[in-house]
Amino acid sequence: MANILILYYSKSGNTKKMAEYIADGAAHVLGADVRLLSVYEATADDVLWCEGLALGSPTQLGVMAAEMKKFWEDNIDLWQHIDGKIGCAFSSQGGWGGGAELTCQNLLTLLMNFGFLVFGVSDYVAHQFTLHYGAVIAGEPRLDREIASCRLLGQRLAEWVSCFIDGKKELHPLNGHYKRNPWD
Ligand SMILES: Cc1cc2nc3c(=O)[nH]c(=O)nc-3n(C[C@H](O)[C@H](O)[C@H](O)COP(=O)(O)O)c2cc1C
Repeated sequence: MANILILYYSKSGNTKKMAEYIADGAAHVLGADVRLLSVYEATADDVLWCEGLALGSPTQLGVMAAEMKKFWEDNIDLWQHIDGKIGCAFSSQGGWGGGAELTCQNLLTLLMNFGFLVFGVSDYVAHQFTLHYGAVIAGEPRLDREIASCRLLGQRLAEWVSCFIDGKKELHPLNGHYKRNPWD
């Protein structure tokens, strides 16, 4: 069983929609058990429970929202108890170039501080559309490629947890059970 937590903060609903698609992508991997929780719903026990964590925040002033940082500050007792879990990031920004990738890096830095093993995704989901540092969207995910990038992030998170924590080597994405980069 791959325990996956999608943990997000969303002020106006866009990052929440991303989180829902990411949860959907993770749930499609065999054996995944997925929790989708906001920073107001999640507890330290949810973080302890998970083996893989997708962390999402709107881009606010080029970094994560204060509410997300506060969740981790409030749960600082987790520090040195959650090392070795697998993490990734996602962010909604107001417009392209608004800093969502910087926010992903900011979220990944926080996860690294807690000892997470963090990853990006090399695959393209459409022509000129990828998620190398996490899923990034302007506004809410509407287009097929935007939804696909969110789903792929969740799928990849569950695949890495299944492969590296649960030992299901057959779920390694390079084993060719689906076509990578079909637009290249
Ligand atoms: C205080 C604040 C700061 C923001 N700063 C940025 C920013 O630096 N870059 C950007 O592209 N959008 C910025 N935005 C816009 C949000 O990132 C954008 O509306 C996002 O889609 C909101 O996601 P949400 O619906 O999950 O809250 C900011 C919004 C707020 C409220």
